Amino acid sequence: MTEARGGTFYDDPDLLDAYLEHRHAPVSSPNLVMEEPAFMAEAGDLAGRRILDLGCGDGTFGQHCLDAGARSYRGLDGSRLMIERAHETVVDDRASFAVADLEDFAPLTDPVDLVSSRMALHYLASVEPVFAAARSSLEPGGRIVVTVLHPVISAGNKPSDGPRQTQEVDRYFDAGPRERDWFGRDVAWFHRTIEQYVDAVIDAGFAIDRIRECEPVADLFDGDEDELERRRRVPLFLLIAATAR
Ligand SMILES: C[S@@+](CC[C@H](N)C(=O)[O-])C[C@H]1O[C@@H](n2cnc3c(N)ncnc32)[C@H](O)[C@@H]1O
Repeated sequence: MTEARGGTFYDDPDLLDAYLEHRHAPVSSPNLVMEEPAFMAEAGDLAGRRILDLGCGDGTFGQHCLDAGARSYRGLDGSRLMIERAHETVVDDRASFAVADLEDFAPLTDPVDLVSSRMALHYLASVEPVFAAARSSLEPGGRIVVTVLHPVISAGNKPSDGPRQTQEVDRYFDAGPRERDWFGRDVAWFHRTIEQYVDAVIDAGFAIDRIRECEPVADLFDGDEDELERRRRVPLFLLIAATAR
């Protein structure tokens, strides 16, 4: 089985369109009904903030930051096509974007107040260097808010066809790449335990503020009780919010 790694996975126009349609679909996008409410709550007030976003995708979050009054927003992503979309999404002097591989990104010379990363770090073989570089991009008191694929999912065997109702977890304590089908293509997602994520954040020089598992927000399901019940069965996202020491 061939694997696409990291940002290059999204450098296929058909796959990118399919992913973005799913990502932004109202009730059926778990990002919108589970990850986003938790992420926004932990990111807090964005007004006046200088923000570095790791794995920024199509720039939607960047536009949100700027609409909320962010002083600056820098988005990095390994996918050339994602960065092209981000340039189309966000036209604002306060924003900048670059194609960059997070496996070896260098800290910014001008510090930021918030480092964000939404659903990107489970594409990386190693997260320790990225947390260290994020810490170096912040001054003490600056914050990082990160979401990743919940380890229950990255350790999971994909259920048979159809919407997920349950999740079989296997080899939970064996960190490393797991091959998955994502929009009909093979991808490597890197499994690590909650403990390993927490250790990596603390060891990089952060104090953990909060861990969240992004419980579905009932009000966002437009009355779709079946979908709400389904989404309450299996966690999909892990969020870590921490402050630079
Ligand atoms: C699931 S998407 C999430 C995008 C965006 N943060 C969002 O929430 O919509 C994951 C993103 O991480 C990026 N990515 C994955 N591995 C990367 C790497 N090694 N370096 C840079 N970006 C990477 C992908 O290109 C993709 O844009």
